[in-house]
Amino acid sequence: DAFSGRGVWRYADALPFEEGVSVPEGDTPLHHVPRLESDVGVRSLRIKHEGMNPTGSFKDRGMTVGVQAARRLGVERLVCASTGNTSAALAAYGARAGMETLVLLPAGKVAAGKVAQASLHGARILEVDGNFDDCLDIVRELAERGEAYLLNSLNPFRLEGQKTIGFEILERFYEDEGRFPDRIVLPVGNAGNTAALYKAFRELVAAGALDRSEMPTLTGVQADGAAPMVEAIENDRDSVQRWTDVETRATAIRIGNPVNAPKALPGIRETGGTAVAVSDRKITDAQQSLAENGIGVEPASAASVAGLRKLRRQGVVDADEDVVCLTTGHLLKDPDAAVAAGNDPEPVPNDADAVLDHVV
Ligand code: F0G
Repeated sequence: DAFSGRGVWRYADALPFEEGVSVPEGDTPLHHVPRLESDVGVRSLRIKHEGMNPTGSFKDRGMTVGVQAARRLGVERLVCASTGNTSAALAAYGARAGMETLVLLPAGKVAAGKVAQASLHGARILEVDGNFDDCLDIVRELAERGEAYLLNSLNPFRLEGQKTIGFEILERFYEDEGRFPDRIVLPVGNAGNTAALYKAFRELVAAGALDRSEMPTLTGVQADGAAPMVEAIENDRDSVQRWTDVETRATAIRIGNPVNAPKALPGIRETGGTAVAVSDRKITDAQQSLAENGIGVEPASAASVAGLRKLRRQGVVDADEDVVCLTTGHLLKDPDAAVAAGNDPEPVPNDADAVLDHVV
């Protein structure tokens, strides 16, 4: 493949295959944000913008490996449940591999850009009268019956690909600063990325490339209306209790049953991390702050920055920390949220002088 050895596949030694179904993915920017950094009040702040992947979210890193596994296994039909981004990525990678793709979405709760992607890439979109967790229950049953190959983050091949987020962050940060970041803050839905980052750290420790004490502190952020992981951390529980009623404007993380919690909770604990919930209002504020720095993200992504702000104010995050916030999806994923949070268009006359009069 023309993309072997690039992006995600630069880390093929740490992946189960030599190459994958590739668009290509990975190699996303680690932005400096000096104004936001001083505003938040930490030694350094970087934004790892996963919205810059080919379908606009980190899911592509998982799919390049996961759909390759499906191809090797010779399965005929791919399936996922999704709050939107997984369905967009699976539709694109399934199309690239020439495979039939089904996606189950919670009706009316998926942002427009994501539905558009799944639709144009040719997935069959099955809208369920229920939330994401209900969709995942159905998909798991279809997979157990052997009717389709599941490509949610329960699929371990997905998490293998998503480990490369961690590799890239550590490698790039070290190149720039000569040290590893103290903390990685990320939005949490199913806790797949949290689990994948923790696995990446453990593999680096096992390879002697990272000292155990240097593992960045994993810090998860959820929306107030969908925060079962935060509840588990706050109550020091080993498992998560499912929330059946979930609501947030950050629809990507509108999830009440984080299926990777058993893999993610130990990662948060071992790295000395925590989990925090933020309001939709604070998520929108953070989305605007990132946009003011030229970085366009969807609401769920901005939760990372909102969570960092809250933890810094509470003194949980220290002023001398080096922090990386993960922004998981692109602004254009959810155009309605962007329009609601941004400036309104101003009608002006069709005349240069009148336009100038208007703007002064
Ligand atoms: N951010 C975005 C933009 C997402 O789309 C998701 C998950 C997450 C964060 C949470 O990541 O599950 O690894 O904790 N979206 C899934 C989907 C559920 O169907 O697109 P996680």
